[in-house]
Amino acid sequence: MPEMEELKLTYDIVIFGASGFTGKYVIREALKFLNEPSSPLKSLAIAGRSPSKLAQALQWASNPNPPPEIPILTVDAADPSSLRRIASQAKIVLNCAGPFRLYGEPVVAACVEAGCDYLDICGEPEFMEVMEASYHDKAAENGSLVVSACGFDSVPAELGLMFNSRQWVSPAAPNRVEAYLSLESDRRIVGNLGTYESAVLGVANVNKLQELRRSRPRRPRPTIPGQPPKGPAFEHQKEFGVWALRLPSADSVVVRRTLSCLAENPAGIPGVNESAQQFEKRKAFWAAVKPAHFGVKIASKSLLGIVRIVTVGLFIAVFGKSSIGRRLLLKFPSVFSLGSFRKQGPTEEEVSSASFKMWFVGHGFSDASGTFEGNKKPDMEIITRVTGPEIGYLTTPIILVQCALVLLNQRDDLPKGGVFPPGIIFGPTDLQQRLQRNGVSFDLISKKSLSQRI
Ligand SMILES: NC(=O)c1ccc[n+]([C@@H]2O[C@H](COP(=O)([O-])OP(=O)(O)OC[C@H]3O[C@@H](n4cnc5c(N)ncnc54)[C@H](OP(=O)(O)O)[C@@H]3O)[C@@H](O)[C@H]2O)c1
Repeated sequence: MPEMEELKLTYDIVIFGASGFTGKYVIREALKFLNEPSSPLKSLAIAGRSPSKLAQALQWASNPNPPPEIPILTVDAADPSSLRRIASQAKIVLNCAGPFRLYGEPVVAACVEAGCDYLDICGEPEFMEVMEASYHDKAAENGSLVVSACGFDSVPAELGLMFNSRQWVSPAAPNRVEAYLSLESDRRIVGNLGTYESAVLGVANVNKLQELRRSRPRRPRPTIPGQPPKGPAFEHQKEFGVWALRLPSADSVVVRRTLSCLAENPAGIPGVNESAQQFEKRKAFWAAVKPAHFGVKIASKSLLGIVRIVTVGLFIAVFGKSSIGRRLLLKFPSVFSLGSFRKQGPTEEEVSSASFKMWFVGHGFSDASGTFEGNKKPDMEIITRVTGPEIGYLTTPIILVQCALVLLNQRDDLPKGGVFPPGIIFGPTDLQQRLQRNGVSFDLISKKSLSQRI
């Protein structure tokens, strides 16, 4: 495939960082929809700093077919003029070049300046919150919709919580929804270095995130019936037969941002050019979403699995604090992650044999209409579940590409611009149905009162 610096004016989608481990899976997912009769994706380009690596990624992603004639654009995150060029040629830039704290900001800046839409697969709370603080107003003015965390981080958590909360029929309402994430495979579960590096740098900069939060105005919190729960950080969850440990992942932070947006905009955010029908649909959707306290736990059938997770967490927390420690962590990822991350990433077999289950256990009140004085205990439980294929390289590309297709199909129904978490933008669209059609399922498992099944 020759390098082509196309003169074409607009691409529906440009995938930036397409030569990366995740990027090549995103190309593969996007090609499934390119020029399909019912798909809005009619033009696609891939971009990155190495044309030869991009060509190889395209070849891999097209296999067993020959690579399609799509433009390969040379763009470096360190070269603002190259970023401006793709931002002015794209309707949507899908950013897969991470760690985002290192390479993300110039990409967002270029998209906001050009007024094109931007989606990424970032799982780094600090990056997301810095982008919101720095670019929201300009993005809103210029008509650029900037949505981070459009991957496994954090769409299953966002849509999964909403799915659970919409099962509570008034006057019932949830108080807390706890998500239990179980990663499953009959082979080893392995991630690529990019994710590990993002986690190591996140731990190293945790103080910066706290400083940023202190410097920002407090956002409203949603009204949730009952007392904030005090659940254990570690537990044996008998219903699913797993041990579970609280996970300091991006998910709960992203969900909190969506719930704050909802507290500020109880009917969601108006579309730039939405119809009266869409206005009613959006209002009805958000009226059925009942906010709840939310947390995520990583679950494992064996206690040893939890011990491994704690050990890796401790290595990253201790070594990640100093630059020498970080160098060691990044030089020997397999050693310090006990084999969970590899420089060359997982094999295709390891990817295709992995899957995830995420249970959402909601506890709340069968009648939340009264006042909540004293310590009224939840008397109702609703369990829902999100399941899908391997998280990083199958589910993440599915989600990112479906988010992009929603944008291409329903742009008038979405806000003119601004920096938002995915839930507040994609909640009222057909994203959940699209994910279901593409292998990520949302199921109601049970509704239970304190004494009997409902
Ligand atoms: N949300 C989720 O659940 C999820 C899932 C998977 C991954 N991720 C995130 O996605 C990110 C990438 O992960 P990965 O494993 O795919 O990493 P990777 O294989 O290292 O890929 C990084 C990509 O960034 C590109 N890049 C680096 N510096 C650049 C620059 N100056 N200009 C242009 N491109 C540049 C690389 O280009 P070259 O090929 O030229 O080096 C490569 O394409 C990480 O932050 C990871 O945490 C998130």
